[in-house]
Amino acid sequence: MSLDGYLDDAGSDRLLLSNDADFDRVDEVRASCDAILVGAATIRADNPRLLVRAEHRRADREGRGLALTPVKVTVTSRGDLDPAAQFFTVGDVEKLVYCATPAFGEAQARLGAVATVADGGDPVDVSVVVADLARRGVGRLMVEGGGTMHTQFLTSGLVDELQLVVAPFFVGDSRAPRFVGDGKFPWGPGNRAQLASVRQIGDVVLLRYALSDRFVA
Ligand SMILES: NC(=O)c1ccc[n+]([C@@H]2O[C@H](COP(=O)([O-])OP(=O)(O)OC[C@H]3O[C@@H](n4cnc5c(N)ncnc54)[C@H](OP(=O)(O)O)[C@@H]3O)[C@@H](O)[C@H]2O)c1
Repeated sequence: MSLDGYLDDAGSDRLLLSNDADFDRVDEVRASCDAILVGAATIRADNPRLLVRAEHRRADREGRGLALTPVKVTVTSRGDLDPAAQFFTVGDVEKLVYCATPAFGEAQARLGAVATVADGGDPVDVSVVVADLARRGVGRLMVEGGGTMHTQFLTSGLVDELQLVVAPFFVGDSRAPRFVGDGKFPWGPGNRAQLASVRQIGDVVLLRYALSDRFVA
């Protein structure tokens, strides 16, 4: 996020907040996960590939009997996603879409050829998503945004670790998406989160918070 807590600016192009070294670190974290989740708005806004990029990390995963890159997961209430988005078309790995019940049939018709579409309830409850992913063999899930997804996972108390990278500039535009929205977070003045480490990576800083006893340093 930016110094003032934004994940993007209000323009249509994706705003790069991290530097190359940190993007490489993110690639390493991705490689350590079984699945990566982003909200549907992030797919529409950024058209992300969500792949492990470094060849040595892909080879390492293959050597461990894993797919080259983690399973991709998204959540949608409207199901209005483009089957030609890179989320669906890039990477020989399973793609999962948890769609709210009212749009489930339509989403299955639109995306069923490129993804597994699951009825996620109405509204989709992230704790149900996590339980279903566990049944599908996902032990370690990386949530990569956007703010709506961060808010739901954090307020549900489902997060074991928060990795927050702060970029050295301001966005200064309240039309832009924030790191989180309003919500009842388990960590407040009377329950401070545990800061596990601080690391400077070039001109950005990585803050790691241990949010459950499943956190592994
Ligand atoms: N800086 C970063 O690291 C980073 C990372 C990721 C994203 N971003 C930025 O964040 C912005 C997007 O963030 P955002 O907060 O607007 O959106 P988001 O979290 O990416 O996605 C929100 C969408 O997800 C679906 N959704 C979320 N919770 C749901 C639920 N419980 N049930 C059903 N559907 C649910 C809805 O999709 P439908 O609209 O399809 O119903 C909702 O509109 C973009 O600008 C992107 O560039 C930045």
